[in-house]
Amino acid sequence: MWRASVLTIFPDFFPGPLGASLAGKALAAGAWSLDVVDIRTFATDKHRTVDDTPAGGGPGMVMKADVLARAIDATATDKRPRLMLTPRGMPLTQARVERLAAGSGVVLVCGRFEGIDERVIAGRRLEEVSIGDYVLSGGEIAAMVLIDACVRLRPGVMGAAASGVEESFTAGLLEYPHYTRPQLWEGRPIPEVLLSGDHGKIAAWRRSEAERLTRERRPDLWAAFLARSRGRPRTE
Ligand code: ADE
Repeated sequence: MWRASVLTIFPDFFPGPLGASLAGKALAAGAWSLDVVDIRTFATDKHRTVDDTPAGGGPGMVMKADVLARAIDATATDKRPRLMLTPRGMPLTQARVERLAAGSGVVLVCGRFEGIDERVIAGRRLEEVSIGDYVLSGGEIAAMVLIDACVRLRPGVMGAAASGVEESFTAGLLEYPHYTRPQLWEGRPIPEVLLSGDHGKIAAWRRSEAERLTRERRPDLWAAFLARSRGRPRTE
């Protein structure tokens, strides 16, 4: 079974949205498991202190290496990758999600405060991962994002919606536009070609729309897509 272990000082955040919808059904059905570890239970003083003032001064607090290391040592007793969610990490990509989903699970450390003592990151080989170039108030929501992205790829979780067929058709491109009835809504018609019944034409239209949206919105993805497909015959 694919196992997610989350180390956090806010265990009440979980399962949160991961307990609902498809991920939640799969969790209840035993298709994956979630264990949430309260870092605070590994503090040893009577106030259960997990943070302290930064060496060198400055604002905020830093999570203590010793407390977090005890939490990690009690949890990461197997070979799962150990990731720490932080805006200074390597960007999370769908390729990385696919590799993580294909493994046995993840151990996720959620940062809070100004940061985590650098020595525990090195000493416990935590790989730093970011979900985007913006700053959240902690790693918990980022951990949920990562878990959701992995779980939906596990066999039997999503059904047809994530069945590789459509995703490989437009691999590396943004999604084409979708429509459903009514045929005319507030003066806006469904594009004629989608009502034509001509599956070849429909596939070609969707492909060109996916390419147009990618070119317009994500020049970075478009350049990568062109680089990959250069010299290769197009497979539709
Ligand atoms: N914690 C705070 N901001 C984050 C981000 N953008 N990605 C991952 N973890 C975070």
